[in-house]
Amino acid sequence: MKIAPSILSADFGILDIEIKKICDGGCDYIHVDVMDGHFVPNLTIGPVVVSSVAKVATKPLDIHLMVENNTFFVELFAPLEPEFISFHIESESHPHRLIQKIKSYGIKPAIVLNPHTPPEMIEYLLEDLEMVLLMSVNPGFGGQKFIPSVIEKARKLKGMISKRGLKTLIEVDGGVNDKNIDDLKNAGVDVVVAGNYVFNNPSYKDAISSLK
Ligand code: DX5
Ligand code: ZN
Repeated sequence: MKIAPSILSADFGILDIEIKKICDGGCDYIHVDVMDGHFVPNLTIGPVVVSSVAKVATKPLDIHLMVENNTFFVELFAPLEPEFISFHIESESHPHRLIQKIKSYGIKPAIVLNPHTPPEMIEYLLEDLEMVLLMSVNPGFGGQKFIPSVIEKARKLKGMISKRGLKTLIEVDGGVNDKNIDDLKNAGVDVVVAGNYVFNNPSYKDAISSLK
């Protein structure tokens, strides 16, 4: 299982130290939640702050866009050379076009599904995607309760991916902890995002290892 701590739960006053601690603690990616105050009722960080994160990070960035104008934000973040940029299917009318744009920068494209959105929505995009991110909370805030129906959704999505002989990764984001990680693994999940579970633990390293 690969672990992507969400820096939404980090102490932004000492962000450089926080980034160093999760990288040294064995995380696989750094999950960056970008919110525009329109698609979700919260506002976070833009490319100025994320470029400072990128400077101290020794692990690749996983950028999760929760915005209305996806194309604008992809253009803003592409120069930071993240590993993944994911955008919500619920806010994009032309997902296939946007996937090609993300790929044109040499960045891996991913699509995010809100808790109510069925995996069939992206069935015909699967072969163009490197990863599908399933939300297990309503996007906007860290520290929310895990919505268990994501487990069945992950299993269904895994079946769709395997049937097509693809290697598309499945990531789950929201309320992940040591209680639900086994169910996620058994359902075929490859990557989990963990905000509060990592940053509320006195040792980020222990939290990451316990999930692994
Ligand atoms: C929610 C964000 C998540 C969140 C995860 O909109 O996408 O990445 O910060 O935090 P926890 O693990 O605390 O639910
Ligand atoms: Zn996220």
